[in-house]
Amino acid sequence: MLQAIKFNSENGTLEVIDQLLLPHLMKYIKINSVEDGWNVINKMQVRGAPCIAIVGALSLAVEIWKENVTDKKLFLSEIEGKLNYLISARPTAVNIKKESQTLLELGTELCNDNNCTPQEMKQKFIDRIVSMLEKDIADNKAIGKFGSESILAKCQALKSVNLLTHCNTGSLATAGYGTALGVVRAMQEAGRLNTIFLTETRPYNQGSRLTAFEMVHEKFNATLICDSSVAYLFQKKHIQAVVVGADRVALNGDTANKIGTYQIACLAKHHGVDFYVCAPLSSIDPTITSGDQIVIEERPEREMTYLNGSRIAAPGISVWNPAFDITPANLITGIITEKGVYEPKDLQSCFE
Ligand code: MRU
Repeated sequence: MLQAIKFNSENGTLEVIDQLLLPHLMKYIKINSVEDGWNVINKMQVRGAPCIAIVGALSLAVEIWKENVTDKKLFLSEIEGKLNYLISARPTAVNIKKESQTLLELGTELCNDNNCTPQEMKQKFIDRIVSMLEKDIADNKAIGKFGSESILAKCQALKSVNLLTHCNTGSLATAGYGTALGVVRAMQEAGRLNTIFLTETRPYNQGSRLTAFEMVHEKFNATLICDSSVAYLFQKKHIQAVVVGADRVALNGDTANKIGTYQIACLAKHHGVDFYVCAPLSSIDPTITSGDQIVIEERPEREMTYLNGSRIAAPGISVWNPAFDITPANLITGIITEKGVYEPKDLQSCFE
């Protein structure tokens, strides 16, 4: 499996694949500080909601690794400032915000614990951050299992199934295995995947650059399509289900994901194809009740108008480049989490 994040827990060093260079070059970048973490997230050298949270938090672990902590309260306020800064790198994915809250709750608890020394407090922070790597892979494997079982239960008569995915939700977007691509992986492991169709995912081409790279690397039977081919794909090929990831899911099931997800969901509904959102609980935002409350990031126009440094759009044209859209809950068949598959109306119960 590809490893987007390499963290050495012996000496606290962190490297990430520069995803802007893929698929042509596999080059790791060293992350030495929170500033470096913010930059790779903001420039989208690392991307994908879980990966953003893990790399952001690990950049903090790297920064505090050698710090000699003597004052717990001061340390906590330093951590809080750095976490707030990291969250500001990209606004839509909720995972990094939720992880920050967990870390701050842990910090408050440790501040109040008279038996915990400042250096022990720092070590507990680091341990918590490092544990995200293993947890994410375990969660993704559970998502893969629940998702593939659920989809296959509806396709018992079929020897194998065709799926469609959008954007990149695999090893490059997570600590490993992937969310929606985790479901695809589990389907392949069960010997029941016929073809995974994948969209190019304009304008940043996470599909043709990253998902295609992962699928070729894994030797899966995968076929790339233009974003504009989805309706025709549903007409011409027998697609059993769409599996996508999420950047933030509201409590009613409305889902923010890569721009283009909403139109695929509309088309899936029209063609009677099941549409699944595959996301760890860390992507579900219990503080919001509907998708209207999600801030959608707008990216620079250059990401649309240039390809590999060459201008492809007519000079002078104005551009709107939202990075995500909101798929309303009524278009979603199920939300596949590490705890099981929920209909949007039952999503609240995943926190019980
Ligand atoms: O802009 P990106 O590449 O960070 O967007 C990524 C997505 O929209 C993914 O589908 C989502 O983060 C889930 S990744 C497991």
